Amino acid sequence: MKRTFPSPAALLLAVALAASSFAGCEKLDRDMYDNPAFRPQEEPVRLPPEGSVPTKGSGRVPLPGTPAAAAAGNPERMDDSARIRGKELYGIHCAPCHGLSGKGDGRVAAKFVPTPADISAGAGGIHPPAGERFSVLTHGKNGMPAFRYDLTERERWLVAAHVETLK
Ligand code: HEC
Repeated sequence: MKRTFPSPAALLLAVALAASSFAGCEKLDRDMYDNPAFRPQEEPVRLPPEGSVPTKGSGRVPLPGTPAAAAAGNPERMDDSARIRGKELYGIHCAPCHGLSGKGDGRVAAKFVPTPADISAGAGGIHPPAGERFSVLTHGKNGMPAFRYDLTERERWLVAAHVETLK
């Protein structure tokens, strides 16, 4: 029997998946949007003991623009594979808006409001501190989406390190 590919069912599935991936676009930062919900009969969530310190999540990444954010240094070992991974992640997650050059000339940037910032070293030739950049991509900033759920902490540092190489 001759098979047509992609089958109508596969096409329908692809369309449905594409549509559902846009469903989350109403908020760039979903932190307050996705509140944990209590369901009827659900056991209440136990609070952590007093004095607990978070060991993961975005809670301990200082906010952009604070001295603590600027002071944070890259804890990752930047060997060749880390550099390649950073560049690769940048191409996937950042280049659509900021462009491969970092100058804000990505394909999405042409239509994106506000215009994505020039994150290359630019005319001045100087990058802001890596910790500040890490904080911006963790928490987002105005039109800049937060990446704390899409990239792990290590991945965010690798991307931040790659941005530093943009001239
Ligand atoms: C949807 C488009 C979009 C994507 C994707 C995006 N950005 Fe941004 N980014 C922006 C916009 C818009 C701004 C300007 C925010 C503002 O108004 O200050 C920005 C600002 C920034 C800034 C701060 C620049 C400054 O001068 O304060 C940095 C750093 C940055 N982006 C890095 C990244 C990195 C790294 C990635 C990939 C992980 C990324 N961005 C992905 C749109 C985007």
